[in-house]
This record gives sequence, structure tokens and C-alpha cells, in this order.
Amino acid sequence: MLEKIKECLCVCNITEERTQKEYSEIISTLFDKGYFPGLKGIPIVESTISNIDGEKGILTFRGYPVEELANNCSYEEVCFLLLTGELPNKKEQEELRRKLLTHKKVDSKVTDLITNMDRNLHPMYMLSTGVLLLQGSDNTSFNIQNQKENIERVIRLIAKLPTLIGVYRTNNPNFAEGKEFNSFAQYALYCLDEGSSQNQKLVDIFEKLLILHADHTINNSTFSVRAVGSSHASIFASIASAINSLSGPLHGGANEKVIKMLEEIEVPENAEEYINNKKSQGEKIMGLGHRVYKTYDPRGVYFKKELLPQIFNDNNPFEIDSSLEDLYKVAEEVEEIALKQLGSKGIYPNVDFWSGLILKAMNIKSNYFTTIFALGRIMGWSAHWLENIESKSSIFRPKQLYKGSEIRSIKK
Ligand code: COA
Repeated sequence: MLEKIKECLCVCNITEERTQKEYSEIISTLFDKGYFPGLKGIPIVESTISNIDGEKGILTFRGYPVEELANNCSYEEVCFLLLTGELPNKKEQEELRRKLLTHKKVDSKVTDLITNMDRNLHPMYMLSTGVLLLQGSDNTSFNIQNQKENIERVIRLIAKLPTLIGVYRTNNPNFAEGKEFNSFAQYALYCLDEGSSQNQKLVDIFEKLLILHADHTINNSTFSVRAVGSSHASIFASIASAINSLSGPLHGGANEKVIKMLEEIEVPENAEEYINNKKSQGEKIMGLGHRVYKTYDPRGVYFKKELLPQIFNDNNPFEIDSSLEDLYKVAEEVEEIALKQLGSKGIYPNVDFWSGLILKAMNIKSNYFTTIFALGRIMGWSAHWLENIESKSSIFRPKQLYKGSEIRSIKK
């Protein structure tokens, strides 16, 4: 059957080997199941924002490899690139930095609500609620026809995201009053931990971490932005839905769960037994595996090779708790065992496996980890929201296979 499908694809002039393989899998799924569980492998949009080669482990934003962007660019440059398609010149970069730092203030009507929220509310749910509340001070937000205004609206929203987190974390609407910041990344880190934001080395690492998270094609949260945006809902509604999607442990919530797992394992000697137990119970090991990468996740590689060595070495300029060094050793052991046991199935450590260790070194509480993922990813979400409008996308409306009962009557 697979050969027949391949012949058909050749007749349709689809000759590239990788595309042939992907389309063959789609057609086989259609014949086998009649529907596409989780939309696995189904192209749903044309996009120019980011690209993944899951076999080779390559991720690019607007054509630039993510490692090059992390090595050479600021948050503002990557933000400009994702929103407009090109890197900014010096003046444009400065202008964007000025706008982000100017618009960071959040109206007191919103901060009053945030400081009155139940302190048990997970920061991700505070964040999505906070984003929706911001719509109140933008009475033109339902008019989305003008792309220039949309870009300005997006920039104002990106500027306020760290502030929502800072207000909730400190329970103080004026937590940043009178402070000056050199960059948006420094401000974002200040919102999560004041002390770390005074250390330029940590700010640099944090900025790279945000850049590595900035976009990732049509993942679950980006799909949510595009699906909600396709009904012409506002940027606030679209980004709030993406934050909710990201909160799930199978998506962005995994970074928080990885640290919990490492703490549970406690010492490297326990790692093998822990993994075997999880596997025998049919449970997933957090921070491993990916829908698209069937090799190393390039972001995970960057964390391991470029960022973690800056923190976990004898000459580093920060104080690292010995318990964090122990967790790092546990992580290395879990990685080694997982690669041995699951590598042949294409299951490798993903970005969430390593990011938590870095955030912990910055003194950030683990329930805030996924909000940091959102601070990076909002650049990509916004670019996708803008692209959706630009391409005049039709409303997302897939189909189901109905398996319920035939029409019946209520018998009294
Ligand atoms: N631990 C153990 N086994 C895993 C695994 C993990 N983390 N991820 C995938 N697998 C196994 C599955 O058990 C399944 O095995 P089977 O074919 O023998 O049944 C196979 O790999 C395919 O898994 P599936 O869940 O269908 O893959 P997916 O593409 O739908 O899921 C993820 C991708 C990311 C949702 C999944 O790998 C996962 O849940 N990972 C843990 C959570 C995580 O780290 N998420 C962050 C992603 S960046």
C-alpha cells in the first residue's frame, strides 16, 4: 500500500523524499483510522516564521539558525525579526527597546485585581487572566484590520507580560518603581528575581533562554493562537488561550515537572529504578521526547553545551547551592540512562529537560518556570497572530468522526 501511495505522490509531482514520507504517513493514517489523532503531521497553514528539521535537529527563525540568534542577538532584535521578517538596524532596535520599556506599566485597575487573586492560583493562570484583563484599557482591540496598529498593540502587550508576573510574585503593584533597566531581558529577569537581574552574566544567559523559546512552528500553544485568532478574536483572547495551552505538563509545564522529578530521584543511583518504574507503569518521563524531533532538540543541546557550563563550573561568578549541583548530577544520569533505553525510539532530552536547572540557579521558584517560557514564546505567538491576519486565514473548523448513537427520541 505504501508503494502505491508513493506512486500517487509522484504522479502529483511530490518528489522530495522527506515530503513523500510525510504525505505517505498522512494518507496511511487516513486509510487506517479515518481521522488524524492530535492532527499529527497535518499541515494546517503556510508560514514563513520558523522551521524545524526534526531528523537533523535544526530550528530556524526567519531562516536564521536559533543558535546563531542566541549567540549574536538581543531579545529586541529577535522580537523585531519575528514580528517583521527582518533583523532591525541599530536605530530600530533601540526604538523597540524604548517602546518595550515605556509600555511596561500596567493599569492600576488590573494590578488591583492581580494583588487580590488567591495566592494559590498557579502563576500561569494568573498570567492568562491578566492578559485578558489588559483588553479593558484598549478599546480599539476588536478592530484588527490595520497591521501597523496590530504590531504596536502586540509590542504593548509583550511589554506588560513580565509586569503581570512581577506584580503577582511580589504582591506589590509598584515593585519596579524608580528602577532603570538596560534591556528588556534585564527587566523581565527583575520581575522574577531582583538579585539575579543585577548580575550581567545571568541576564545574558536569561536573554539567550528567552530567545531559544521564541518560536517553534505549529506547536499546541501556537495552534491555539492561530485557532482563536482565526475567529477574529483579539490579540488578548488569542494570547490568553496560548498561555493556557502552554501550562499543560505535556507542553511548557514540563520544565516545572522535570525539577520535581529530579528532586524525587534525589541521587544519581536512584535514576535507573525511577525510569524503569515509570516505563513499567506506562508513564512518560518529563523532559524527554518530542512530536517533531526524532533526534537531539537543538535548544536542549544549546542549554547543555553553551549555557549550563557557564553555571556549573568551579570558576563561575555566582554562588551555586550544593543541592542544585546534586540535581545537575541526577539530570546527567537520567539523560544517560534515557538515551540508552529510549534513544533508539527517537526519544531524546528536549528543551524543558535542562531549562529548569538554569532557572533554579537564578533563584526563580519552580512554579514560575513556565511563565518564563511564555515570556519568550509571546514573540512567536504574536508573529503567528499577525501572519494569520495577513494571510486572511479562514476560520479553523476541522471535522470529527461521529461515533455516537443514531437519532433517537425521548421516551416518557
Ligand atoms: N517517556 C517515555 N516514553 C515516551 C516519552 C517519554 N517522555 N515520550 C514518548 N514516549 C514513547 C511513548 O510511550 C510511545 O511509545 P509506544 O510507541 O511504545 O507506545 C512513543 O514514545 C510515542 O509517544 P507519543 O506520546 O505518541 O509521542 P507524541 O509525539 O504524541 O508526544 C510528547 C510528544 C512531547 C507529548 C511526549 O514525548 C511527552 O509526553 N513527553 C514528556 C513531556 C514533555 O517533556 N513535554 C515537553 C515537550 S517540549
